[in-house]
Amino acid sequence: MDTSVADLLQHDAAHLIHPLHHPQSQRQAQVWVRGQGALLFDQHGKEYLDALAGLWNVLAGHGRRELAAAAAKQMETLAYASCYAGNSNPPAIELGDRLAELCYPSINRFFLTSGGAEANESAFKTARYFWKTQGQGGKYKVISRVWAYHGTTLAAMSATGIGSYWPMFEPRVPGFSHIASPYPYRFDFQPTKGDTRTPGQAAADLLEEEILRQGADTVAAFIGEPVQGAGGVIVPPEDYWPRIRQICDRHNVLLIADEVITGFGRTGDWFALGRYGIEPDIVSFAKGITSGYFPLGGIGVSDRIAAAIDAGPAAGQTWMHAFTYSAHPVACAVALANLDIFQREGLLERARKLGQTLQQKLQSLASHRHVGDVRGLGFMAAVELVADKTTRAEFPADAQVGIRVLQSTLRRGMTTRLRGDIYNFAPSFVAEEAQLERMVNILGESIDEVLP
Ligand SMILES: Cc1ncc(COP(=O)(O)O)c(C=O)c1O
Repeated sequence: MDTSVADLLQHDAAHLIHPLHHPQSQRQAQVWVRGQGALLFDQHGKEYLDALAGLWNVLAGHGRRELAAAAAKQMETLAYASCYAGNSNPPAIELGDRLAELCYPSINRFFLTSGGAEANESAFKTARYFWKTQGQGGKYKVISRVWAYHGTTLAAMSATGIGSYWPMFEPRVPGFSHIASPYPYRFDFQPTKGDTRTPGQAAADLLEEEILRQGADTVAAFIGEPVQGAGGVIVPPEDYWPRIRQICDRHNVLLIADEVITGFGRTGDWFALGRYGIEPDIVSFAKGITSGYFPLGGIGVSDRIAAAIDAGPAAGQTWMHAFTYSAHPVACAVALANLDIFQREGLLERARKLGQTLQQKLQSLASHRHVGDVRGLGFMAAVELVADKTTRAEFPADAQVGIRVLQSTLRRGMTTRLRGDIYNFAPSFVAEEAQLERMVNILGESIDEVLP
């Protein structure tokens, strides 16, 4: 194939359908050809700061030969063999041990998938399965939140709370409903006289109201990202998650933590809910486990759920859930090599330090008259642009402010993703301080250009 740029894009448009396909964006797209550390290079050789580490996943940075070597070695030894019905492979077994060490104390058993949506599908089915084993098969519904992103397979899409993902694929799966997000910048809590609750507690109580509205005997699980990622890095108040855990316990509802973004260090810990002193019943993960070098995701389940799965076959309730690529040996080998890099290079500690630096530097943008909110936790952050800082009013969608800022940052050599007029940051853990400084400067210059 002729590889001139125009030709590449023409072939692309002729034969590929992209995630979130739009022919217009396809015409202006970058063809990424190389990556190194926190940098990406496009078809013209132009360098970009990768402010989102791929799609929140390339934690160990681009260009790691060690991960390529781990994949090659495993492919030469055993590229694939089925893990159905108890069959296994050495990298999967070792990864299970490693995950049990890193994950929440009560979560010691793991089912592996190829990505995040498959992980969440597995979580929903496992929640339903669990309640059936407990003689409570009527508990099948799942509650999630507005601005949640849980993937785009049908059930994951139904849990996703970003409405633009729905209309052309509806009807959604029955039994999925949403409560408002604990969005400090926008959560509208007007306590009535005598109501002493904090906004975090009031946001959590929306879950209890929804459980009661649906009927607790019909609700299997609540799913939430500890920090909502694609929805615009929404960091809940500190007292939100402990109260969510209490509400789930009170009504026999399983708590699923979607840690596809927050898992493996993004918030400064291996998994994010520990900082709030709680554990989920099921955790889903993907992305960072291999730093994106090979597709891998999965769920971890609590000892209580694992015991139900183990007891299932005896009761005629076998857990008939599977993927061809579950526990893929190459994916597991890459994950192990990735975790080795984390430990050897102290990437978790580095992410904590870089996170503080990024949050501090981003504050320099807060005084701009259209920067409504600068927020983040650990090494993930967002800058929300608004039409009016006093009223927090958004720009009209057709003003395309976010997209124009994004285009300006691309021209200056930085790439990321938006949600509306919210600009997200989640760089790789190997980013240099000077690169973070440049990222913040580029965003500042681009906001000034679009909103002078
Ligand atoms: C929190 C969260 N859950 C699930 C997913 C879906 O993962 P995948 O795209 O691997 O299916 C994503 C992807 O961005 C995510 O951010």
